Amino acid sequence: MFVVHLMPAGTQFEVPANKTLLQGALDAGVPFPNRCQIGACATCLCRLQKGEVNYHLEPMLTEQEKQQGWIFACQAIPCSDLVVSFEESDDY
Ligand code: FES
Repeated sequence: MFVVHLMPAGTQFEVPANKTLLQGALDAGVPFPNRCQIGACATCLCRLQKGEVNYHLEPMLTEQEKQQGWIFACQAIPCSDLVVSFEESDDY
């Protein structure tokens, strides 16, 4: 079980082992942008500020996007506590 903080709102929820970030959010009743839930629409794209995630299937992200921390919440499985942001800017 890992704890996820959603910025900038500061919402906090727990994701059970082997569940995706999106699934954990929805199970906890947290409104998280999503549509396809299969890694195709990019609606769930958000930015990892802290922590590690794993993928069963690597999503389509450029090297630059990966470096900037963009993740697909519907595909990313937390493997540590996370801080995730919906903001593009680096100055939070
Ligand atoms: S919900 Fe469509 S890519 Fe994640």
